[in-house]
Amino acid sequence: MKYAVFLGFFLLYLSIFLPPSYASEIPDGRALYIYWCRQCHGVEGRGDGVNSTPDMLVNPRDHTDAAFMSSRTDAQLEEVIRYGGISASKSAIMPPWGATLTDKEIKALLVYLRKLCNCKFEGAVSDEKLKRISPGFK
Ligand code: HEC
Repeated sequence: MKYAVFLGFFLLYLSIFLPPSYASEIPDGRALYIYWCRQCHGVEGRGDGVNSTPDMLVNPRDHTDAAFMSSRTDAQLEEVIRYGGISASKSAIMPPWGATLTDKEIKALLVYLRKLCNCKFEGAVSDEKLKRISPGFK
């Protein structure tokens, strides 16, 4: 009986503290996003997570912003996820995830980002044009 109670608590502990992706072989991009990225980028990816405040120098990217996201290649997005904002001369507040997430998980996040913006790479756009088409762009 004692053993069963212990096991019960242990399983509960695991289900609370392990990110959902460990449960299955194919990582679930949305679950990973909600677990690791939501606090800054927001549940729906609009850059409005609880850590995103108006006084931040650079706000977390709005991942639903197709105009911006289609100006980035998959390789560029992947690099920022893996090595952090600094690696691409972006805000140091965007952390590097390469030591935390597996390659498969990073790929799953990339696929999910493309779902969020419902876009793919469509050629680089100048910052000037981005400011016009996407007023929130800094
Ligand atoms: C502590 C806050 C924080 C967390 C957590 C965070 N980000 Fe970010 N992220 C940022 C900020 C701030 C920027 C904006 C960087 C800039 O434009 O200079 C950013 C930008 C990005 C970009 C845009 C790169 C570009 O080209 O502009 C991607 C992609 C991204 N984050 C993915 C993720 C993913 C995926 C996760 C979760 C695994 C995540 N971020 C978690 C703060 C965060």
